[in-house]
Amino acid sequence: MDINTVFEGVYKIDKRLATKSIAPGYRVYDEELIKLKNNEYRLWNPYRSKLAAAIINGLSELNIKNCSQVLYLGASTGTTVSHVSDIVGNEGNVFAVEISKRSMRDLLALCEKRENILPIFEDAMNTEAYSSEIGEVDVIYEDVAAPTQDKILIKNSELLKEGGSAYVAIKSQSIDVSKDPKIIFEEFIKNVSHKFKVVQRVKIEPFDKLHLFLHLKKL
Ligand SMILES: C[S@@+](CC[C@H](N)C(=O)[O-])C[C@H]1O[C@@H](n2cnc3c(N)ncnc32)[C@H](O)[C@@H]1O
Repeated sequence: MDINTVFEGVYKIDKRLATKSIAPGYRVYDEELIKLKNNEYRLWNPYRSKLAAAIINGLSELNIKNCSQVLYLGASTGTTVSHVSDIVGNEGNVFAVEISKRSMRDLLALCEKRENILPIFEDAMNTEAYSSEIGEVDVIYEDVAAPTQDKILIKNSELLKEGGSAYVAIKSQSIDVSKDPKIIFEEFIKNVSHKFKVVQRVKIEPFDKLHLFLHLKKL
């Protein structure tokens, strides 16, 4: 099997995206596990994870690396969180904020296998509830699929280091189904422009038709 490094901690195995598992033997969703040279890799499905889709579609800079402190907003049951957890490794942390009780239940089970994921059962607008626990982070990842995602990002940017990256999946339909998605995406960028500059916009079709994926940097 052919293995190539795409970014630090992100690989292509026979052209399929993967991360090296920090919890060998455990599947998180229905991903395939591959053993290679004493390591176990987890294939990363771009139809299940917008970050994987963005990497495949040409994301040029990934600042989630070994040892990174990542604030993840909208963790859900932990599909993408688990791959971010592989990338940051045991010296890094993923602070995984999730508002839904049902999703949090699955996420807690995942945290038992992965000590670098710290679950936070909260509304991500309510940063006061977790700011002292996490301090300053290197990266924010936001995928909340909520109409207030611009406000949530601005509020959480207080916890991001200066020059830190934010990766955002914007779902137009969660903001306004009646509006042209292009207008929604431009409004989002305008609303956060006093805090962030745009580094890259990545379309994630055909994996997902409703989202725009953005790489932003804190001003
Ligand atoms: C599209 S899903 C996230 C999928 C996940 N990022 C992944 O790739 O595996 C959006 C999640 O954001 C959560 N969410 C929505 N509004 C939120 C808020 N204000 N605070 C925290 N989580 C929120 C939802 O409950 C849902 O689980």
